[in-house]
Amino acid sequence: MSAVIEERRGRIALLKLNNPPVNGLGWPVREGLEAAILRLAADAEVDGIVVTGAGRMFCAGADIREFGTEPPAHVRRLTPILDDLEGMEKPVVAAIHGVAAGGGLELALGCHYRVCGPKTKLGLPEVTLGILPGAGGTQRMPRVAGVSKALELIVSGRLVSEKEAYESGIVDELVDGDVDTVIAAAVAAAERLAKSDSAPRRSCDRTDGLQEAKDNPGLFDSFRKSMAKRARGMNAPYACVRCIEAAATMEFADGLKFERKEFEQLVNADEARSMRHAFFAEREVAKIPDVAKDTPTRPIQNAGVIGCGTMGGGIAMVFANAGIPVTIVESEQAALDAGIEKIRKNYAATVSKGRLGQAEMDKRMALITPTTDLVELAATDIVVEAVFEDMSVKKELFARLDRVCKPGVIMATNTSTLDVDEIAAATSRPEDVIGTHFFSPANVMRLMENVRGEKTSDDVIATVMGLSKTLGKVGVLVGVCHGFVGNRMLHQYLREAMFLVEEGALPQDIDRVLYDFGMPMGPFAMCDLAGNDVGWRVRQEQIKANGGKPTNIRYSGTIADKICDLGRFGQKTGKGWFKYADGRTPEPDPEVEAIIVETSAELGLERRDISDDEILERCLYPLVNEGAKILDEGIALRASDIDVVWMHGYGFPRFRGGPMFWADTVGLKTIGEKMRQFEKEHGPWMAPSPLLLKLVDEGKGFAEL
Ligand code: 3HC
Ligand code: NAI
Repeated sequence: MSAVIEERRGRIALLKLNNPPVNGLGWPVREGLEAAILRLAADAEVDGIVVTGAGRMFCAGADIREFGTEPPAHVRRLTPILDDLEGMEKPVVAAIHGVAAGGGLELALGCHYRVCGPKTKLGLPEVTLGILPGAGGTQRMPRVAGVSKALELIVSGRLVSEKEAYESGIVDELVDGDVDTVIAAAVAAAERLAKSDSAPRRSCDRTDGLQEAKDNPGLFDSFRKSMAKRARGMNAPYACVRCIEAAATMEFADGLKFERKEFEQLVNADEARSMRHAFFAEREVAKIPDVAKDTPTRPIQNAGVIGCGTMGGGIAMVFANAGIPVTIVESEQAALDAGIEKIRKNYAATVSKGRLGQAEMDKRMALITPTTDLVELAATDIVVEAVFEDMSVKKELFARLDRVCKPGVIMATNTSTLDVDEIAAATSRPEDVIGTHFFSPANVMRLMENVRGEKTSDDVIATVMGLSKTLGKVGVLVGVCHGFVGNRMLHQYLREAMFLVEEGALPQDIDRVLYDFGMPMGPFAMCDLAGNDVGWRVRQEQIKANGGKPTNIRYSGTIADKICDLGRFGQKTGKGWFKYADGRTPEPDPEVEAIIVETSAELGLERRDISDDEILERCLYPLVNEGAKILDEGIALRASDIDVVWMHGYGFPRFRGGPMFWADTVGLKTIGEKMRQFEKEHGPWMAPSPLLLKLVDEGKGFAEL
């Protein structure tokens, strides 16, 4: 089947891009498009052209898999093909439906008129792939939608609805109906334009949208200032701004050349490679090799959540947000009332910020049914347990659920550390038990670590992986071990941060290095946000269980314990590793520095200057090393799954592709050698993992596993 299908509607030629699943503009499509343009321009039987997409969408842009490869020499890039399309004397109309993204929207902008169907998403998301719209999008979009709108859309990469696109002038006509109706309206527009005396309206000739930048040339600098925080560490967003600036100051043809130069500098750099990796990793994560794609899933029409504390409340909101009725069970009425009130306040805050309508809030609250009676979960399709992190409490609860719940219910636990198999063994149906480890705050963080027990059945796995998507989450399937993937690796990161403080660094030094690397905040600000008391209690339990002694050879909690002894639990107490004058912004605290210096002396450690490089390597290399152990043990299916966990659970910068991809860019040889050095200098916990050493020996990276 041809990559561009040609049909006739009277004297109008209809070109359908045909490259499933998303009509990516790979070279066969470009070749087909170019040939059609040449042919139709000369065809006296054709008065106009309509371009559309076969299947479920118009076009999702360039074929991302082609980046970094060379097309056959005779196939041109999209930019000159769009120039030819736009330059046609016959009217060219885009019939847009489903999605018009990236090169897909650039193609539409190269047409003379745009008709758009309902429920369509349009945008230029290239920046999320570390590049810029490289087929004239940075030049045509500001001409069509205005410079400010183009800056906002191109630098954020946000996709907009057809309604917003219409209001911004990106599409000319909205049509309510199916694809055939959209095509019919586009054909009618082409016939109308063919009959009119005026020349085709070409985006490249338009200047009205550029006027605002001519009136206010300072607009670009102030935009650059406004984006500084979110564009931290990245090149692509700034390149986008430079190209839009070029659109406002240069002739169209020169602007295109400028755009090309900028595009070429970005497309094979680490930033773009990392973001492409992130894009495919997020799609790969849904594929479970030993669970057949067609495994039947269980219907989830309602849900139950047990425990209305920090996590349970958030998880109930997640279900309600997805329109799934949820019953929430607490042991005591007072705790239930307090939990529901917290949910209400949470929604109300979103309403007051204008991000949710009051009616929608009421609808979501009405989907949540509070109760203190577990029996009310008898008919639910899935139950998510989020009670105290205590094995005996959880086992007792699962044994009761086993008696109460209908056959076929999925019984999920939100435990962050406990053995899912031991919890499952408390029931007569361990095949129905799975971990669904949400991250705090559950209604915000996108990650769900779905923990597969030894006996969890395939259809439960398939259902929960699908449910993650329905809930707007990214589900990653992991195996049972202490801390699963994310927190097990986090432990390495935090431990080294604590040791570095004992050895000479200050919390603000460490946080600065990791923030500059691209993390949303450093480890100490993160502990202050999560609450230092959580780890403190865990350490106390571990010490108690170990006969009053720390379990590690070198104890990392000495300073953290002192901080907690003073009640410095973090943001919630106004003080932690930092002080918080305004409740949110961390500021270095001399009191903490005094404790740190005093503790170093007590431990017999002579404080030394620690370089930024050492901070980064000490915090991140052990984290990667633990990731390698996790892979070796089969706890994660793929290195890229670990990357997804870290990007969505901990905000690891997407422009670095996640810790395992980043490690490949650093070079595993470098990391292996450094871990050996750290092992000698610090202790056996820094020993490089066997998998890391094996890959170094074979000269491979995690990507080649
Ligand atoms: N190129 C290659 N493959 C693509 C692709 C693209 N542009 N877009 C999607 N795919 C693939 C996915 O990898 C997936 O493959 P798989 O089934 O083997 O895993 C399949 O198509 C379906 O994709 P999704 O699972 O993402 O499908 P959804 O329906 O959930 O989403 C979408 C559809 C909104 C179009 C989403 O796929 C998307 O955002 N795609 C990327 C859009 C984009 O970034 N376009 C810009 C490309 S760069 C460009 O155009 C450069 C130009 O300026 C020169
Ligand atoms: P929490 O202490 O805030 O809430 C637990 C709630 O469960 C309390 O309201 C308590 O009254 C209720 N509860 C206890 N036993 C019950 C029972 N038998 N029946 C009904 N309700 C009962 O605890 P939090 O932080 O929400 O943690 C819950 C679970 O989620 C734990 O397993 C924890 O490890 C896990 N988790 C916690 C995260 C966090 O950041 N707080 C992150 C991810 C997982």
